[in-house]
Amino acid sequence: MNKKIETISFPDLAKARKRDFSSLPLLRKADLKIPEELKKWAEGKTFTVFTSGCQANVRDSEIIIAYLLMLKMIRTEDSLKADLVLFNTCAIRENAEKKIYGELGALKQSALENKDKIIGVCGCMAQEEKPMKYIRDNFPYANLVFGTHNIDSLFSLLNECIVSKKRIFDVCSTQGEVVENLPSYRFDKNKAYVNIMYGCDNFCTYCIVPYTRGRQRSRQIEEIVKEVECLRDKGYKEVTLLGQNVNAYGYDLKDENVTFAKLLEAVAKTDIPRIRFMTSHPAYFKEDVFKVMSEHENIMPQLHLPLQSGSDSILKKMNRHYDSKQYMDLVHMLRRYIPDVYLTTDIIVGFPNETDEDFEDTLKLCEEVKFDNAFTFIFSPREGTPAYLMEDKTDPKVKSERFDRLLKVIDKSATESAEKEIGKIEEVLFDSVSKKNDEMISGYTRHDRLVHVKGTKDLIGQIRKVKIIESHTYSLIGELI
Ligand code: SAH
Ligand code: SF4
Ligand code: F3S
Repeated sequence: MNKKIETISFPDLAKARKRDFSSLPLLRKADLKIPEELKKWAEGKTFTVFTSGCQANVRDSEIIIAYLLMLKMIRTEDSLKADLVLFNTCAIRENAEKKIYGELGALKQSALENKDKIIGVCGCMAQEEKPMKYIRDNFPYANLVFGTHNIDSLFSLLNECIVSKKRIFDVCSTQGEVVENLPSYRFDKNKAYVNIMYGCDNFCTYCIVPYTRGRQRSRQIEEIVKEVECLRDKGYKEVTLLGQNVNAYGYDLKDENVTFAKLLEAVAKTDIPRIRFMTSHPAYFKEDVFKVMSEHENIMPQLHLPLQSGSDSILKKMNRHYDSKQYMDLVHMLRRYIPDVYLTTDIIVGFPNETDEDFEDTLKLCEEVKFDNAFTFIFSPREGTPAYLMEDKTDPKVKSERFDRLLKVIDKSATESAEKEIGKIEEVLFDSVSKKNDEMISGYTRHDRLVHVKGTKDLIGQIRKVKIIESHTYSLIGELI
């Protein structure tokens, strides 16, 4: 405890904002050499990795775990006893950050008892200046901090921490690179996330992601297809292609033959049974993607298309680059190509100075679209983003009333959409035992609806036909046929 600090580099949001598009993203192969000292220390030691945030973080945790397993460390759920505890954090909203402070606090006693314990913080929150200063000054036993750009330095960072017995802070705010050849562990045996790009250049005014994840960098089509083929050969049934704005895939590679539609088509041709992708951005979405979706059975009839707001004036203040009409046009086009599409969205309520009229526009649009589901959030000011500095006179009580009203509209369309499923025969990929009832097995339809059926564990990993017999707002009950 109270070890000396070795600050290799510290997050810098001003630097993180900078973009240099003059060169292509840097390609690099991960160095997988294990330092001798680390090898000796690690074998047989235990670790826990906690993951918060989005799919990008889940995938990063899989890579981190793969590195630790290469060291012959053993995964455990018991963070109090573990020799290494890592928090892979999210910074999207304030409550995600607060939770981490609580969890770090809970480890104090075990850090006192095991002086060699390594407690690490990585992920998006590690890329922010203030929270890292707070952790540095308030949690002296947090002794390893690294960011989203240097996960592949995990061996040397850990080694440094062990050999020097110092607290290591190494968070670079550079624009990032594309690192291939990363080791990979998968949480699931049937469904896998595949990164197609990293970072984001959109700078929606409320969002911290472009600062925490750097410049947009696309992976090469061949690398992505190779990864999907490898998953297919291992028996994986489903891949989800990941990027903060998948529709902008390839822009940074400056080759007009590299587009998201072309990538999607190449992935479809691998014949992996199910393909999904997220997240789509309405301003970048092009018709060619709908065309590819409608032409390939293995691209699922489902789309997550964040709206954020139905008010043109708020969309402008959010820097989203589309208006409500463009969004509606896209929805109509989508439904022309894929009439039974399952459409979901994200909405932020209470952006600074959102008026009653702005909010009514959002409600109206939601009533018109009738989303099958939506993720709704109350605006959370993120330091470093333009919206953080916007004066906001809206009473928090008004925001939470609006939030409740929006939820009611979403619940109504979600319930109606689920009711229409009764009597239908759906293909379900089963993936787990139901959390609420261990006699039920859960899975997802092609549309990504959650279905529970009475059955045994051997269903997991299978795609089976199911008759839907009961609907709830966010899940269905079915029978195997
Ligand atoms: N790249 C994706 C997802 C970004 S984060 C996209 O562009 O859609 C997921 C969602 O979190 C966003 O769609 C947005 O609705 C929400 N979000 C992001 N920043 C937020 C903030 N500061 N306050 C509240 N919600 C936020
Ligand atoms: Fe954030 Fe906007 Fe980028 Fe999505 S597109 S990650 S909301 S800046
Ligand atoms: Fe959170 Fe970072 Fe994802 S801020 S939502 S983990 S990109």
